[in-house]
Amino acid sequence: MNNPICVIGSGGREFTLAYKLHNEGYRVIAIPGNDGMERLGIAQTIPLPPNFGLRREHSKHLVDVTDKYKPSLIVIGPEDWLAVGAVDNLQKEGHMVFGSRKKESIVEASKCWSSDFMKRNGIPTPDFYNPENYQEAVGHVKKRKLKVAIKGDGLAKGKGVIIPHTLEEATEALYAIMIDGKLGGPRVNIQDFVDIEYELSAMAFVDVRRKNESFHGDYRLLPFSMDHKSLLDDDKGPNTGGMGAVAPIPINNELRGKVISDVIERTVEGFIKEGIEFNGCLYPALAVDRNGRFYVLEYNMRFGDPETQVVLYSMASRLQPYLMATATGELGMLPEIVTNDYSAIVNLVSPGYPHSPEIGLPINGLDDYGQLKRPIEGQMVIHSGTKAIMEGNKVRWATNGGRVLGIMSSDPELSSAVCKSYLRGRGDFSGFHGLIYRTDIGKKALKLFT
Ligand code: GLY
Repeated sequence: MNNPICVIGSGGREFTLAYKLHNEGYRVIAIPGNDGMERLGIAQTIPLPPNFGLRREHSKHLVDVTDKYKPSLIVIGPEDWLAVGAVDNLQKEGHMVFGSRKKESIVEASKCWSSDFMKRNGIPTPDFYNPENYQEAVGHVKKRKLKVAIKGDGLAKGKGVIIPHTLEEATEALYAIMIDGKLGGPRVNIQDFVDIEYELSAMAFVDVRRKNESFHGDYRLLPFSMDHKSLLDDDKGPNTGGMGAVAPIPINNELRGKVISDVIERTVEGFIKEGIEFNGCLYPALAVDRNGRFYVLEYNMRFGDPETQVVLYSMASRLQPYLMATATGELGMLPEIVTNDYSAIVNLVSPGYPHSPEIGLPINGLDDYGQLKRPIEGQMVIHSGTKAIMEGNKVRWATNGGRVLGIMSSDPELSSAVCKSYLRGRGDFSGFHGLIYRTDIGKKALKLFT
């Protein structure tokens, strides 16, 4: 049997990576993975020790585990593994890895750095200020009459952006970031506010590396997708990791061409010019304003969640060749990625999410294998925070995280893909009683693009 592919991470994004690779005929090992992957037979899951903190020395543990399985490729999902140097450690032991090293993780792990990089390289991004201290920061926010987005410099799991409505909110946020060191602090990146009409996730496989003393880069664009970050309908409520997504977003050719040339290509050229050996998925988060101008709000250096779910479900091309070619430096030899149907995912989250989700709530809408009871055609469940509790030879499913599961559907029509995700298995909603979801996933895309 072929050597397995190892997927690192435990959410819906990693579930979908494992699902697609499994469907392509690969044996998948997920570390730590989730119970849905295991029960559905998508991946063999290898748990991490309890209370496993993510520190650099712990990524050595990852090396020990992966060594045992001799994977042909290791795909890193979450950004924090990249930022602690997991790729550096795995590569040192001779593993083939999809993902960037610690040094390059600055692309996502420092908002101050990435704003500066975009400005240096002519990539459209909001005007910004990286203040030296708290007084300067407050002064800048006052000068801008609160028309700002305040961001902790570091990684904050999507919770580090504050759009203040009052000076008190602004000073509280700046204090939390700069003095208490929370939300990705102590440094802060203050961007001018963009009156966003819609957001667009533009993911691409990117490989920039040194070859024969000079730097070369290649990219392959994935279909554009749209996330829904706020907890509640009409983009209200707190920011979350993402409540649902749709793809592909059929933006017009002019905008598509500008995003490719001004964002993806200028970023890759900037990496080449500055000697940044980026490897993996580049995911610039874009905002398009009411005048059709677009801005990169930030870079991510990994697949988006839940964008990956819909993008991979819509992707007609095989995934493994793109992952492998990105890791080996042969991306330029692959054709453009081909997509077929539209996909939509509606995430169901636990009460209390995003701040303190309830763990252990029963989920009755799944069968013993973790599949939806009575699914409709083109519909499947994506497991994120689910736990399978064995009771004799029966399984009881319970919540085990904030984003619990996603109902994903595909269809040749975007509107039908969205509708199917809301049907949730022939109208049977009862199994997900108590879980929270938005009722308007895909509504904006349908209004703007169909
Ligand atoms: N969907 C938001 C993120 O992956 O950061």
